[in-house]
Amino acid sequence: MQTLNEIRSTFLNYFGDNGHAVVPSSPLVPRNDPTLMFTAAGMVQFKNLFTGVETRNYSRATTAQKCVRAGGKHNDLDNVGYTARHHTFFEMLGNFSFGDYFKEDAIPLAWDLLTKVFGIDASRLLVTVYHTDDEAVEIWKKHAGLSDDRIIRIATDDNFWSAGPTGPCGPCTEIFYDHGEHIWGGPPGSPDEDGDRFVEIWNLVFMQYEQFEDGTRRDLPNKSIDTGMGIERVAALLQGTNDNYATDLMRSLIEASAHATNSDPDGAGKTHHRVIADHLRSTSFLMADGVMPSNDGRGYVLRRIMRRAMRHAHLLGAKDPLMHRLVPALVGQMGQAYPELGQAQSMIEQTLLQEETRFRQTLDRGLKLLDDALVALPEGADLPGDAAFKLYDTFGFPLDLTQDALREKGRAVDTDGFDVAMAEQKAKARAAWSGSGEAADAAIWFDVADKSGVTEFLGYDTETAEGKITALVQDGKAVEVVQMGQQVQIALNQTPFYAESGGQIGDTGTIRTDTGVARITDTRKAAGVFIHFAEVEKGSISNEQSSVLEVDIARRSAIRANHSATHLLHEALRHALGDHVAQRGSLNAADRLRFDFSHNEAVSADQIVAIEREVNSYIRQNTSVETRIMTPDDARALGAQALFGEKYGDEVRVVSMGVQDGSGKGSDGNTYSLELCGGTHVRQTGDIGAFVLLGDSASSAGVRRIEALTGADAINYLRKQDQTLALAAQELKAPAADVPARISALMDERRSLANEVAQLRRELAMSGGASAPGAQTVNGVAFHAQVLQGVTGKDLPALVDEHKSRIGSGAVLLIADTGGKAAVAAGVTDDLKGTLSAVDILRAAVAELGGKGGGGRPDMAQGGGASADNAQAAIEAAKIVLKG
Ligand code: ALA
Repeated sequence: MQTLNEIRSTFLNYFGDNGHAVVPSSPLVPRNDPTLMFTAAGMVQFKNLFTGVETRNYSRATTAQKCVRAGGKHNDLDNVGYTARHHTFFEMLGNFSFGDYFKEDAIPLAWDLLTKVFGIDASRLLVTVYHTDDEAVEIWKKHAGLSDDRIIRIATDDNFWSAGPTGPCGPCTEIFYDHGEHIWGGPPGSPDEDGDRFVEIWNLVFMQYEQFEDGTRRDLPNKSIDTGMGIERVAALLQGTNDNYATDLMRSLIEASAHATNSDPDGAGKTHHRVIADHLRSTSFLMADGVMPSNDGRGYVLRRIMRRAMRHAHLLGAKDPLMHRLVPALVGQMGQAYPELGQAQSMIEQTLLQEETRFRQTLDRGLKLLDDALVALPEGADLPGDAAFKLYDTFGFPLDLTQDALREKGRAVDTDGFDVAMAEQKAKARAAWSGSGEAADAAIWFDVADKSGVTEFLGYDTETAEGKITALVQDGKAVEVVQMGQQVQIALNQTPFYAESGGQIGDTGTIRTDTGVARITDTRKAAGVFIHFAEVEKGSISNEQSSVLEVDIARRSAIRANHSATHLLHEALRHALGDHVAQRGSLNAADRLRFDFSHNEAVSADQIVAIEREVNSYIRQNTSVETRIMTPDDARALGAQALFGEKYGDEVRVVSMGVQDGSGKGSDGNTYSLELCGGTHVRQTGDIGAFVLLGDSASSAGVRRIEALTGADAINYLRKQDQTLALAAQELKAPAADVPARISALMDERRSLANEVAQLRRELAMSGGASAPGAQTVNGVAFHAQVLQGVTGKDLPALVDEHKSRIGSGAVLLIADTGGKAAVAAGVTDDLKGTLSAVDILRAAVAELGGKGGGGRPDMAQGGGASADNAQAAIEAAKIVLKG
């Protein structure tokens, strides 16, 4: 049996042997197509090669491409687990020609691979072609010897492929496999085509047009080929099944799920295992490519898939979180073909565990609410939208999870009602999105890239350079000239200005032409075009002019120092905290650096010191920072830290710095820090100058944030701290080193003085100073009433107690004149508590003092008044209470 891993290698080797560059899968998050949520076909990463916007040093390529079809336009989520061939994650094998060969070679290459290399029985294969494509028909006849009845002409879009409403497209031919009469289904184009008997295994697209938004179509500069074969399908047939979930790879994941839940892989929980196996792949791969669970966008699709799997784990009776325990099985199967998976393993496991632990807290209650809601409904009725929304909003049940749960019960959700309930929340989110205006601008940069090419970045080696203006844009529209005082976005064929990316902020500086000068306040990029945000300060600037560009050097130097320090920090964090530390975000500004990383607890003070010390030791080492260009594979083989999900082309920059003693790592000997990075860096680590860690804080769940300073900012910060200390020492009239001990001695002294003062106040109060009669008897009850000076409200309860014990039996009312206000406390000895309440006495007194309320217990009550002026009246009022 050929395993899925063998099939993948066989495919890539076959096309490799036929002159194709074996190109790694691009990330699941497309970087060159703002309209796609996830990569859903092999051609996505090559879109610009078909249109001719981009060229590379190969014209034939082959890939095994990671694809996700969940969320967005392509969404198979609802069906996963219930059918033999739906997946949220799958691998698409493909071969591509960029103006190299066309159909006359594409068809034979495919046919020979299937029949000669894979050994598939040719008599079971049939094909479809676009109805007008006589050429393809002829090639199939000639090369494959297919008879007319096995070449089916299809007039619909099924045989005209395009990635989306715009972009490269063309007619296609699809290869089908006939699984045999024992399975129901008809050939493509027949009424029974939806059956499982005839399965499409490979789509060969003859890319020859580019579709535009206005409906027009132009010929591509070169006729090209794009093919796609789902590896799971071809593996199924090569392994003698028509069920993708019975292939070796999926089966091993299903068995891992069955093993971990102590259940039968093929028993009642069969669907659950399939859902879990599929969703384990999509969620793990998405996280390896940098998508993290969240409540919107891609992150929410990820969370939906996770939660769907987690509910199925719950249905299997899993008592503890399950998904993270299956990751090793997945890495075992796919880690070799996709090294990013292994690199992200511990992060994936931690995130799955965290998410599942959290979701399980509301899962039971949500399912109960669902059951209760169903019981109350008429037979077969849809679940009302507001109930589904409550499950979503309060219990974290994505709509498709609720639908999935209802599917087993033969019910559906009133999705219109759900939409209505959701509309308000959505409106808010939309308002937030539409504010940016970036998307509106993006279109024009694609036009600029089409017309004038992308911008070449010269800033690794220089801060000044010449460049030709390729576009001037104002308010999203191209203009030919801009005058003094106007804002404009300038595109250039080349530039030393770094465009914001990878956490490093954009450069600022000036641009001069023969006719004017503009100040550049920021640089960003879109569609490969560097956009210089500028304001014309002198004269005018025209399109197509040549210009001299100067980056603000001091600012760039500070940014460079911060960026290089970030690399050292990343490594030091891994040393101090463990290999699970992965970059989650960073900011390399001129005045500071910020680094977010995956870690579940606060970084301790000792760890902070160790990390700071380690970074500074590599700064002092002052070794040169080296940048090499290599293939991403070579970089990873060296052990370079890559940013998950970042798109890396054929060549990547690998930045290395520092030499460590001891064992070293990877094949790169003892390099300390190795990272894939497009940013700008110092020449020698010593250029960073100094590094000061400002501390760590929580950024989001499982992510910590560290801020730090370098160079002059670090020194200035330390100097400021030192000045503060010197001021403190001066105040204390002590050497700086004695400041902490002196402060602590002063604090002790202050505490004991405060105690002494309180004691003296009490003594004073007890020993007289009374301006009102002390003990008297009212209605046969001993009553001590007194107005006190120099005590606070806080002192009163202790004084009341003291008086209570002195009189033995009776009531006490103390009014403290606290300078403007009055604090009042009343007390009744325990023996009288049943008949007399301190609260009543207090309230009566307080009312006379212009206060409100007050309260406490029958034996002790406290309150306050606006002033002690009416103290006598207050005492008289208390007496009335005593008289009953
Ligand atoms: N791009 C083509 C597809 O996805 C091959 O079917």
